[in-house]
Amino acid sequence: MKKFILSFGLGLLLISCGGSGDDKKTTEESKEETKADVPATTDLSSNPDYQAGLGLVAKNDCLTCHKIDEALIGPPYRDVANKYASMSDTIVTHLAGKIIHGGGGVWGEVAMTAHPTVSQGDAEAMVKYIMLLKK
Ligand code: HEC
Repeated sequence: MKKFILSFGLGLLLISCGGSGDDKKTTEESKEETKADVPATTDLSSNPDYQAGLGLVAKNDCLTCHKIDEALIGPPYRDVANKYASMSDTIVTHLAGKIIHGGGGVWGEVAMTAHPTVSQGDAEAMVKYIMLLKK
């Protein structure tokens, strides 16, 4: 019986290894793995600040103007995080106020729309999420 399972397993192994096209794919995949060498981001999903903030950002209109890594109408969130990374906690309050009241002049001429229906707490939760994106 053991022998049977062994040869069955070997058979599967051979099948899954066959085909030259597959070989190419695996090398490409492993290349991507080395490129995506970002230690912190993998743990982010278990961070409650990340989860709560991301939920609020998705629920509001933020993503129509912001992406994580690309400039849209607004600056990429990762750039925002990097810019303020070394500042004290008061920056969270400040940026939350900016989300609520809108404004421009920091990243360019385009202003962010005001979000008067967003509470200070929710705005701060969104800022905390953005700040976690720093590299
Ligand atoms: C209509 C487009 C638009 C929407 C919607 C929008 N933003 Fe922005 N956001 C901008 C622009 C433009 C800037 C750059 C403002 C500046 O240069 O001062 C900005 C800047 C920011 C900044 C950095 C502010 C600073 O002073 O450096 C944060 C944080 C931010 N947005 C978060 C959010 C969040 C969270 C939401 C959703 C509630 C949101 N934005 C929705 C356009 C938008």
